[in-house]
Amino acid sequence: MQNTVSAEAYVDVRLHVNGTVQALHVDSRVTLLDALRDELALTGTKKGCDQGACGACTVLADGKRVLSCLTLAAQCEGREVTTIEGLAADGRLHPVQEAFIRHDGFQCGYCTPGQIMSAVALLQEGRAGSDEEIREFMSGNLCRCGAYPNIVAAIREVAGRGSE
Ligand code: FES
Ligand code: FES
Repeated sequence: MQNTVSAEAYVDVRLHVNGTVQALHVDSRVTLLDALRDELALTGTKKGCDQGACGACTVLADGKRVLSCLTLAAQCEGREVTTIEGLAADGRLHPVQEAFIRHDGFQCGYCTPGQIMSAVALLQEGRAGSDEEIREFMSGNLCRCGAYPNIVAAIREVAGRGSE
């Protein structure tokens, strides 16, 4: 009987994750999400739907949001991947992380890493000009706990629009 996973299905991938180069030997079909969680023990990135519908797995690749459950690890060769573990610098939380805490932008916390990564990108893209805009550009990140008003308040504050 033919083996359905041949040795040729494995590839060497050099991932740049949170400023560190990681050399992996993985099945070419492994998603970035599984590579982060299972190979690199970066479990801050969450697996929700595993099919591109919830946003829990959002990370940044070259500063842009990607759904890591829909991205192959092998596609990220040479790209700069940032996960929730890579946001804090010099022992200080990222301003978006601090704002989520201040505004209670989470309850169970499962969606929170994806929400925060999306929020960081949204702010960099200049998409936080109004609450409507924030809601629109955060619409790919679902929260079963319904923390949306607090999430919007946190992003609004970091965008410099205070607590309207
Ligand atoms: S786990 Fe990737 S979008 Fe839901
Ligand atoms: S805080 Fe629970 S799913 Fe968003």
